[in-house]
Amino acid sequence: MRRMDLRIANVYARSFESLEGDWKYLIDPYDRGEATSRVQEDRRRESPGELIEYGFDEADSLSVPGDWNTQDERLFFYEGVVWYRREFERAPVKGKRHFLYFGAANYRARVWVNGEQVGEHVGGYTPFCCEITAQLRDGRSSVVVKVDNRHGDDDVPTRITDWMHYGGLTRDVLLVELPGTFISEYALHLSDAAAGLEGWVRLDGPDASGPVSVGVPELDARVSVETDATGFARFSIDSDPERWSPEQPRLYGVELQAGQDRVRDEVGFRSIEVRGSDILLNGEPIFLRGISAHEESLLHPGRAFGPEDAEATLGLARELGANFVRLAHYPHDEHMARAADRMGLLLWEEIPLYWGIAWENEDTLELARQQIGELIGRDRNRASVVLWSLSNETPNTPERTAFLSELARHARELDPTRLLTSALFGNVGELLRQLRAIAEASAEGRDAEPSVLVLDDPIAEHIDVVGWNEYLGWYYSAILVRRLDIPEGDVRNAVLEAMPRIRIEVPSGKPLIVSECGAGAKQGLHGADDEVWTEEYQARVYRQQLLMLENAPNWRGISPWILKDFRAPMRLLPGVQDHWNRKGLVSETGERKQAFGVLRDYYEKRRSSS
Ligand code: GCU
Repeated sequence: MRRMDLRIANVYARSFESLEGDWKYLIDPYDRGEATSRVQEDRRRESPGELIEYGFDEADSLSVPGDWNTQDERLFFYEGVVWYRREFERAPVKGKRHFLYFGAANYRARVWVNGEQVGEHVGGYTPFCCEITAQLRDGRSSVVVKVDNRHGDDDVPTRITDWMHYGGLTRDVLLVELPGTFISEYALHLSDAAAGLEGWVRLDGPDASGPVSVGVPELDARVSVETDATGFARFSIDSDPERWSPEQPRLYGVELQAGQDRVRDEVGFRSIEVRGSDILLNGEPIFLRGISAHEESLLHPGRAFGPEDAEATLGLARELGANFVRLAHYPHDEHMARAADRMGLLLWEEIPLYWGIAWENEDTLELARQQIGELIGRDRNRASVVLWSLSNETPNTPERTAFLSELARHARELDPTRLLTSALFGNVGELLRQLRAIAEASAEGRDAEPSVLVLDDPIAEHIDVVGWNEYLGWYYSAILVRRLDIPEGDVRNAVLEAMPRIRIEVPSGKPLIVSECGAGAKQGLHGADDEVWTEEYQARVYRQQLLMLENAPNWRGISPWILKDFRAPMRLLPGVQDHWNRKGLVSETGERKQAFGVLRDYYEKRRSSS
């Protein structure tokens, strides 16, 4: 099988032709195109007597990059196979190597060039490349891609998610030309020592063992090293750059050169660490004023992609007063981290180990290792990325903890320079017991004892920062009502009024980021502030949860759920949800809700007092 572990880091700085635009497509609901019709051969009928049961020339087109769900109503909820075909002219160049680079294909992809398979990939949100040097020919070439957005119980994620599995070639497809031996990957960051930069470089090709030079011209710094027989070399540069930060997102031009290959990057230098319950950026404690975001565009329907979408989403976060964004629940487009580097926003990035995962399946663990490796491989030089998150709301079982602790070890091996986290449920049973006491006391007309919520989870010892998804003002009241004979509105009011007297403790002593919190509201729906789905109710939940979190001694950041309403097939309430999750601070068309102002005012107060 073709090597699928080959990386082309910083692909947009290489020599490439974008294959964006119209691709022909065929819908293959029963997935018979490959075995039965042999669609991958991209044949045309040469004579009237020839039977071919497919045809790209006669087919319609989808725009790439872009999900298929929002381009063809037959594909809106579709989960299955779609075949793509693009023709192009690219004669092979002597001494050069040619690759197809995919920013992402959700969820499984198989790639053929001129009828020959050149690669396949599993995972809907990380890049992969296929070498096509041997398949190129003078004149017309054709690339055929089979994309399947079905997810099984052993996949990462599984089918059961609270977001839409937008399918297709959802990010850039590039035709890349590189020298026979090229710089495949590299890392460059502040060294642990007092000052100085360090890193490594990996070459790929027949002359992988040879000289490499790394320079930062503005620092008048340059070093030359020899790679070993595998093409790998470490280096260090004595230099003391200005530090990157949200207030001063200072980027430096970095130039790497090896043989015929030259690549230039824009890199920021900063340190991120934990000391006790503090998160230190460049040695100073920082509070992460954040917001969560799915990868849905503010500018057009469907999956976001490209620099314009990235700047629109991060720009709205900045208007909120955020210095931090949680890119949930999967790796977003590479343009997000590059835009955050330029704009000065800190990022939490994650892979979709979400809810129920096949924790005992070795292949599933390998998928998770592959995805965290591809994410780290792509974004390791982005100063904005400070946290790798391993999972979201996973059950506290020995199998889950064994799986995640191995993944944590692997992630630290790949990148010892960043912090690890996970978004945890917390102790829901204990939480409900405390809230029940609050609700019953209220029903009897007395004040409940102040509550202490303890957040402990065995995974805490394997991560640096504890993430907690907190929904006291939303879900837990509904669960409580089923166990009490107290009207739901009374339970909600009791819980909301008690929240400022609830103290949250983190026994591990580690920093706490509230990785989700909030409530749903239909934009434009107004009413009493104890009526769910009104903007008033959502705003009240925001006010109360912020008062509660002020009592949490380890509280160092928050990324409320969520910036924008997003498509969620499991949200069925007609007239309110209509397959949208309504916890956004803005509607799907960008209309602000009252809670947007509540959070913005809070961040303004925090920023001016810090
Ligand atoms: C969960 C989950 C999110 C989901 C959210 C909600 O915590 O992490 O993916 O969308 O809650 O229920 O709205």
